[in-house]
Amino acid sequence: MKKIIALVLAVMMVLSLAACGGNGGAQKGGKTVGIAMPTQSSERWIKDGGNMKAQLEEKGYNVVLQYAEDDVQAQVSQIENMISQKVDVLVIAAIDSGALTGVEAQAKQAGIPIIAYDRLLMDTDAVSYYASFDNEGVGRAIGEYIEKAKDLANTTETYTIEFFMGSPDDNNAVLLHRGLMKVLQPYLDNGTLVCKTGRTSFEDTCILRWSQETAQQWCENYLSGFYADEDLDICATAFDGFAYGCRSALEGAGYTLENWPLITGQDAELMASKNIIAGYQTMSIYKDTRLLAEKCVGMIEAVLNGTEPEINDTTTYNNNVITVPSYLCTPVAVDQSNYEELLIGGGYYTAEELAG
Ligand code: BGC
Repeated sequence: MKKIIALVLAVMMVLSLAACGGNGGAQKGGKTVGIAMPTQSSERWIKDGGNMKAQLEEKGYNVVLQYAEDDVQAQVSQIENMISQKVDVLVIAAIDSGALTGVEAQAKQAGIPIIAYDRLLMDTDAVSYYASFDNEGVGRAIGEYIEKAKDLANTTETYTIEFFMGSPDDNNAVLLHRGLMKVLQPYLDNGTLVCKTGRTSFEDTCILRWSQETAQQWCENYLSGFYADEDLDICATAFDGFAYGCRSALEGAGYTLENWPLITGQDAELMASKNIIAGYQTMSIYKDTRLLAEKCVGMIEAVLNGTEPEINDTTTYNNNVITVPSYLCTPVAVDQSNYEELLIGGGYYTAEELAG
């Protein structure tokens, strides 16, 4: 009798597992996706990891998700572990995009395909696809926002501006600066924009590991060294974390909402969105990480099933070895005028979250 009950229970378990998999989940045959993410110190990556995990599990995959807290060596070890665990595919958002060539070669040798997530993996032929946002487009959108907000094309005023750009080991940061300067360089050249520190090149403005503390320190130094007699009008920053750093520096230097500069950011993090509503940040770049995760999941399925994923760029993302077929989502500028429609309407945040 016990044996019969055990058998019935076993059959029931198999049936319910098959049902849980939904949409053919049971056919995934227990395939495992290893996801290496850079850090939990910035909200966007927590959302990215969470969305990827949820979407993959929904489809019946196992997921190993790890964060390396901006420690390059820790990320290398995490990926090595995933390779020895024999994951079926790797998704990597690199901390230092050029520091992973060794583990990438190992993965290739073990027959594990790699998808670059948000940040291009440099100097390797082991990457199959790249899912990201149009990174030069992010820079352009920030530049165009500043151009329009200050009516740079028509104004007779001059505006002071300082730049806080992303990490030199992140290809996205280079592209963002390029896009930004395509819009703003003419106004620096004709004197409408004045950068008193003279620091406008990527080399002079990039901040290693996207450090908020460094941005704050630089902003403090700029304000005391160059803006004692004249207000800083624009903080062109590449990241919400930098915008928080600038806010602290500006408050420390006695700025109030009366003479607050235009401050840009990227990611539309919750805190940034609240700062936008309160007036302490002017804009951010909204990147719907749910959409990015969806495109990346499509790439995972393609490498596992030998099908073609959705690709919309086959020319831009050369990593010094190969040009990686990419899907680029569209970044959108968000500010006080459209946050309700974009962030609340789009279900990214609830009104309560933004009010809290
Ligand atoms: C991402 C940005 C993010 C930055 C800092 C970049 O690679 O594209 O969305 O703000 O890293 O985490």
